[in-house]
Amino acid sequence: MKRIAVLTSGGDSPGMNAALRAVVRCGIAYDMEVYAVHSGYEGLIDNKFERMSRRSVADILHRGGTIIKTARSARFHNPENRKIAYDNLKKLKIEALVVIGGNGSLAGANLLSEETGIPVMGLPGTIDNDLAYTDYTIGFDTAVNTVLDAISKIRDTSSSHDRSTVLEVMGRHCGDIALYAGIAGGAEVVLLPEVEMPLNEVVDTVNEGIASGKLHNIIIRAEGYPVSSAELIKTLKKETGQDVKLVVLSYLQRGGSPTFRDRMLATDCGMMAVELLSQGITNRAIGEVNGQIVHMDLAKALKAKRTLRDELFHEISVLSK
Ligand code: F6P
Repeated sequence: MKRIAVLTSGGDSPGMNAALRAVVRCGIAYDMEVYAVHSGYEGLIDNKFERMSRRSVADILHRGGTIIKTARSARFHNPENRKIAYDNLKKLKIEALVVIGGNGSLAGANLLSEETGIPVMGLPGTIDNDLAYTDYTIGFDTAVNTVLDAISKIRDTSSSHDRSTVLEVMGRHCGDIALYAGIAGGAEVVLLPEVEMPLNEVVDTVNEGIASGKLHNIIIRAEGYPVSSAELIKTLKKETGQDVKLVVLSYLQRGGSPTFRDRMLATDCGMMAVELLSQGITNRAIGEVNGQIVHMDLAKALKAKRTLRDELFHEISVLSK
């Protein structure tokens, strides 16, 4: 394989630049021409390619975001636009496309490959950790660390005022950011899309905490939990008699310098994708399972079903009392 392209797609995540750097430099080491596509699938449709050199990815390993930009492309859902995207790849004689992104982005790569035959590779780039085939996604660790930093600061002020705080975190339909930050940050309650938890149970837990002398209550609400933060706060104020504040971390979770773990995952996944391509192995999803970098059939990987790690959720109820 002599000519490949790489793009980042969907919401950005810390470590996307590290993955890009690995793909570009490893590709060049294998004597490939490497092209970056700007702004994800949008750029593929609009023919925005850039020939990359080793120096094009200098000084980006530590930077959040993605220097080649990303987008959520509604146009790519249209088969006619996917044909245009394919034609653009063919005009440049690109032999394979590496996609760094989340669920929807990797599904887009798979669809493009099924329709046109273009070989693809998928790297898990999202803070959400919602790809079932891999234990961790690139950016998740950094996002959780950002939440942990916020929790420490919220603790200081909440305990001074005997307050409760609802901390709303991202993750779309996946509660992993809330769950892992809840465990590592010592939250009292974690509300996830995957676990049914009626409001009266939340109220009881908070009231029990107050009665047992807790200085503050930190309630982490994943954005996919079905009761809104406003509703939750209204109920808690009424039923606990305590002041309850809302902190929404929002896009803060998507930025920042990637952690050691995210840089390693991004680098290892990027290198593996190119090494496989150099051997003619294509249409693989790269990820991490039990501490090892692995690859598996992309279509199958996308069908894998996510399950919540119940034992982790259990830890919160045992340790937060
Ligand atoms: O998929 C990453 C993510 O940050 C989700 O956690 C969040 O729900 C969504 O993207 C926000 O998307 P947008 O950047 O399009 O507002």
